[in-house]
Amino acid sequence: MATSSSLLSCYILLSIFFFSLLIEKNFLVSARELAGKHHVIDVKSLLPSSSCSMPDKSTNSSRLNVVHRHGLCQSQARHDKSSHGELLRRDQARVDYIHRRTTNSNAHLNPISDSLFADVPVSVGYALASNDYIINIGLGTPTKYFSVSFDTGSDLTWTQCVPCVNCYTQKDPLYDPTQSSTFTDILCNSYYCTQLNRFGCSSTSTCLYEEVYFDYSSTNGSLIQDTLTFSSDIIHNFIYGCGHNNTGYFGQVDGLLGLGRGAVSIISQTAQLYDNVFSYCLPSGSNTIGYLLLGSSVPDVNYTPMLTNPYAPSLYFLKLIAICIGDTRIDFSPTGTVLDSGTTFSRLPPSVYSTIRNIFKNIMAEYPTAAPLFSLDTCYNLTNYPNVEVLSMSLIYDGEVIAYLDGSGIIYEATISQMCLAFAQNNDDSEVVIIGATQQRTLNVVYDVANLKIGFGSNGCK
Ligand SMILES: *[C@@H]1O[C@H](CO)[C@@H](O)[C@H](O)[C@H]1NC(C)=O
Ligand SMILES: *[C@@H]1O[C@H](CO)[C@@H](O)[C@H](O)[C@H]1NC(C)=O
Ligand SMILES: *[C@@H]1O[C@H](CO)[C@@H](O)[C@H](O)[C@H]1NC(C)=O
Ligand SMILES: *[C@@H]1O[C@H](CO)[C@@H](O)[C@H](O)[C@H]1NC(C)=O
Repeated sequence: MATSSSLLSCYILLSIFFFSLLIEKNFLVSARELAGKHHVIDVKSLLPSSSCSMPDKSTNSSRLNVVHRHGLCQSQARHDKSSHGELLRRDQARVDYIHRRTTNSNAHLNPISDSLFADVPVSVGYALASNDYIINIGLGTPTKYFSVSFDTGSDLTWTQCVPCVNCYTQKDPLYDPTQSSTFTDILCNSYYCTQLNRFGCSSTSTCLYEEVYFDYSSTNGSLIQDTLTFSSDIIHNFIYGCGHNNTGYFGQVDGLLGLGRGAVSIISQTAQLYDNVFSYCLPSGSNTIGYLLLGSSVPDVNYTPMLTNPYAPSLYFLKLIAICIGDTRIDFSPTGTVLDSGTTFSRLPPSVYSTIRNIFKNIMAEYPTAAPLFSLDTCYNLTNYPNVEVLSMSLIYDGEVIAYLDGSGIIYEATISQMCLAFAQNNDDSEVVIIGATQQRTLNVVYDVANLKIGFGSNGCK
């Protein structure tokens, strides 16, 4: 790890800072300003507001709105607002799972396809965690709509389904394949069935699936195909799980959309239509709207190579080379970096984290501290401070691709009396770095699987 001041990209930031100071002298700079040495954050802007800001009208036929699960932009209010402690505990469980999965020592974890009936120890399929962001997809003919979370860390798409042996509470009526004129079963010797983590054959030779997530939440049922309506695009013969037995914590969403790199993911299934590319912008707060787009028509994006880890082939890896905080650039080379939509807070090597924390503490020295919030150990009580000034931050990927963090990607708002640095640290410097959803907020993020590159651009959404 090397720390340097006023070099390379951080230097560019510094000059923009002087410029922005001049023009913004008498204004409250919003947390969304991307350039500059400091962010002046309107503290209340980080807390949930009472109205939902609607998105601009620039829609695309393969573009869906993304909203926060607990936000006002969510048409049906959800009442399972889990506590911050619970959110962080689940986040850590997902991180632990990714760490286990991405290291050699876990070669014994399930091979790509196990038979449901093979004598294997209970193994965890893929990581599903906070998944705070949800979209509405249509299934069947006539189209019924379902709100599902999406996950770059897993492949299979599924919804709870009739007949239901075991279902958790959801807001929408269950998907009922018998009510759809376009539904068909999938045979257990078909390609997609054999690509599942765990599959089996029913007495009529149709495909059965089972997916177990890192916290032992599970879904079990039939693999089927039906029409998927994604925004106004129609995807025929989409293959997904009809979950008859669903147990554990799924946050009351109707199911999950799998955006991983494996064969059954929506990206692989629609490769002919969208060239193996998808893009999203995760909104900054619970009352703003982002997007999920199949394909990419996103301008002003800079690309860094997409990498693969043989132990976790469905996950998206890239190479983080430095972090800038204020005018300090910290160069380092982690063993690997996962870009993950389902981890909430990024996990950094302890040596890098402590440097960032020290710089952050210095700049925040005038504010009263607050108790740590689980893995977020640097918190402040900002009750009496309407605006705070924090250093701007950016993540720098291979090829000097810079991703500027939104204010909401630097400070996490538990309550106004407990606002924390929105990063956590790994157990040791050898563990893979995880870039979570919080540090992706407001960015255009393009996953170009065909050309093995990942793009970042600013101002994708609010
Ligand atoms: C999956 O669900 C079916 C009933 O829908 C049940 O017969 C089967 O035992 C379940 N498998 C597992 C592993 O839970
Ligand atoms: C439902 O799934 C759980 C977890 O896999 C399993 O223990 C249970 O036996 C299943 N129930 C049925 C009826 O298949
Ligand atoms: C929508 O996105 C697709 C896929 O990237 C692109 O080809 C198309 O031009 C876009 N359409 C509009 C109206 O922006
Ligand atoms: C935060 O600061 C305010 C104002 O000083 C104080 O009244 C309140 O008790 C503090 N809250 C916590 C949780 O420390």
